[in-house]
Amino acid sequence: MALEVVILAAGQGTRMKSDLPKVLHTLAGRPLLAHVLSTADDLAPARIHVVIGHQAERVKNTIDTDGINAEINWVEQREQLGTGHAVLQAMPGIDPDATVLVLAGDVPLIQSQTLRPLCEAGEGIHLLTAVLENADGFGRIVRDENNAVIAIVEHKDASDAQLAIREINTGVMAVNATRLEHWLSRVGNENVQGEYYLPDIIAEAANDGAPIEAVSSHDTMQISGINSRAELARLERGLQARLAEQLMSAGVGLSDPSRIDIRGQLSAGRDCQIDFNVLFEGAVSLGKRVRIGPNVVIRDSQIGDDCCIEANSIVDGARLAAGCNVGPFARLRPEAELASGSRIGNFVEIKKSKIGAGSKVNHLAYVGDSLVGSNVNIGAGVITCNYDGANKHRTIIGNDVFVGSDCQLVAPVSIGDGATIGAGSTITEDAPAGRLSLSRSRQQVIDAWRRPAKK
Ligand code: UD1
Ligand code: MG
Repeated sequence: MALEVVILAAGQGTRMKSDLPKVLHTLAGRPLLAHVLSTADDLAPARIHVVIGHQAERVKNTIDTDGINAEINWVEQREQLGTGHAVLQAMPGIDPDATVLVLAGDVPLIQSQTLRPLCEAGEGIHLLTAVLENADGFGRIVRDENNAVIAIVEHKDASDAQLAIREINTGVMAVNATRLEHWLSRVGNENVQGEYYLPDIIAEAANDGAPIEAVSSHDTMQISGINSRAELARLERGLQARLAEQLMSAGVGLSDPSRIDIRGQLSAGRDCQIDFNVLFEGAVSLGKRVRIGPNVVIRDSQIGDDCCIEANSIVDGARLAAGCNVGPFARLRPEAELASGSRIGNFVEIKKSKIGAGSKVNHLAYVGDSLVGSNVNIGAGVITCNYDGANKHRTIIGNDVFVGSDCQLVAPVSIGDGATIGAGSTITEDAPAGRLSLSRSRQQVIDAWRRPAKK
């Protein structure tokens, strides 16, 4: 039987106290809804219906659906009248024979392995529950004397006896579409919040004698719903701790597993060693034995074997071959490409440039839109003047070039193989191979000069 998923994401998330819709707040760098959407897609459903309402356009435009295989049906719930009402809005687009799996857009870490066993609901309802130490805020699972599930009662509507129940509704359930619609049509809004509650279908189904199967999850992170910033921060730390464990079990050394953040996909070879406060964003790959110092940010970059990124460096959109050394305090910007054994030192910025094997840019330099050969030495304070205020121009530097300190290379310009550029030069014309080019004025000694004395 076909599976269709409904993701509820129309609420504002009042308790976040934010102008950003709750489902767009990020966990590990991705919107909450994006996590749920890709998990839903892992189940290979026929369709995914995402119910949006509060700032619907913004939610729709923010979520990247490129990697999603299933057809996505964005459904608008104009007024947020409750989770039951939200599901009803999606019903017209759902095949009456399908099994409908309902997920909440604010329960981001639910996993497809947990959901798969629920997806064949038969005549009744499959419900994902959990037993929690602290069940505050959750709907409670009410059972009869035979231990059969007969209702879910929301925290706000619960009696004292019901509040003592530790078994809670995770918000995830699976039901045949026709039955779901039928039971939803009988749900009213006579409750403390004046809302049409999806969990109220449980009592309707129980009245009809339909089987209700509660599957319990023991992984609290998976079923954690985000309703406040504090809950979001707790889940972020929990997730990061788990990612850190995975890295360590793959052979990566972490100086402090509680001080690393991975917001994207990180792959790392054996014996990498990562110091504290390192942030990885986007797709990052580290080869083997890469060493990363403290306070480093690495985004969308590939780093080869045996590289070392020293403290306080930023590596963004760069590719490093094996054995490169970067930092401390270096900044590699998008399309920086370092060939093997090259060295980028402190307060150096490299943008959209290739640096050849064994070349060094060790101190206080800017290299942009450049092609630098191998075994080049670029001295302290060298600037490639790549921008004329309107257009960008290229600087081409051959192999075995020595550029003295404090030079400006005014692009477009090229420096031939083996050339030497004298310190303090402003190079506006191509410098020939194997020769010394200088553009500074000669030093003078003024014999008659006297230092002024104070009157
Ligand atoms: C809900 C459940 C509760 C369960 C808990 C688990 C209901 C009434 N209660 O409570 O039993 O223990 O989740 O986390 O379902 N939404 C809409 N339209 C609406 C209202 C909500 O799309 O009209 C969406 C929200 O954006 C959110 C999800 O539904 O993504 C859940 O809503 P929320 O208000 O967070 O419900 P909870 O109080 O957490
Ligand atoms: Mg919630």
